Amino acid sequence: MLLRILGTAAGGGLPQWNCACPGCAGARRHPSRRRLHDSLAVHGQDPGAWFLANATPDVAEQLEGRPALRPGAGQERTPVIRVVLTDAELDHTLGLLRLREAARIDVWCTRPVRKALTTRLPLTGILSPYTTLTWHDLPLTGAGQPAEIAGLEVSALPLSAKRPRYAADEPAHPAWTTALKVRDPGTDTSALYAPALAAWSDPLDAEIAGADCVLLDGTFLDEDEPRRTGVSRRTATGMGHLPVEGSGGTAERLHRAGAQVLYTHLNNTNPLVDPGDPAHERLAGLGLRVAEEKMVVHL
Ligand code: MLT
Ligand code: MN
Ligand code: ZN
Repeated sequence: MLLRILGTAAGGGLPQWNCACPGCAGARRHPSRRRLHDSLAVHGQDPGAWFLANATPDVAEQLEGRPALRPGAGQERTPVIRVVLTDAELDHTLGLLRLREAARIDVWCTRPVRKALTTRLPLTGILSPYTTLTWHDLPLTGAGQPAEIAGLEVSALPLSAKRPRYAADEPAHPAWTTALKVRDPGTDTSALYAPALAAWSDPLDAEIAGADCVLLDGTFLDEDEPRRTGVSRRTATGMGHLPVEGSGGTAERLHRAGAQVLYTHLNNTNPLVDPGDPAHERLAGLGLRVAEEKMVVHL
């Protein structure tokens, strides 16, 4: 399997259009620091078979920017676009609207995510005059057979009941926010993608122990960052994102993981958006690093 990183930023991207914080200002001065919304294309053994993990507001540029994801030789149009969702957040789903030129969009997600995206955000009604949108149930990890998508086995590990603000009054459900587990049966390798991690759990710990690559929530470097920078009155954990550093942070738990660990979904307030920030060296000392735009991971 091959993971093509299409973006590594949290909602808003880097720079964010209405923001002049040090991270956004730095990205305007140094275009190499720009980050699109977090997403990846996951390829199986057949290089022409792939799916998107999340569909971001940047999706059309993300696809156009990767020659391997453009319509192939002899193909006038990409025949079908497959999208697997980790959650129903706007930064992970608005791209579905931008994919409406496709003849067919196949989407896999959990039940509460599908309900949000068909009722609170009525995507089926909006998209049906443009394309054929087909919803598929994404099985929960360990509960029955995983979905087979592009020759890969895909399931959703429930992480939390964190739901998008536009669906905040929907009932709680453990699979509002999930980690995607992708396994390649040909090579027996697996990857875990969790751009929003509100709480650590034993099942997550077990999946990380068995994974070859983990792409994890790196929204905030420390617990107080959202309050200190004025983006929220809540802490990082209160916003549904465990911080990278500090007590209860993910770095101290991950440094013993055998897997390759890459942080993604970086908020523009995160000091890690500056490649010169000393936090990069601290993470490197733990064997951890930040995912970079256009990185390709072979597993
Ligand atoms: C999140 O990651 O917490 C959400 O995407 C935030 C948002 O955009 O409302
Ligand atoms: Mn987000
Ligand atoms: Zn900013």
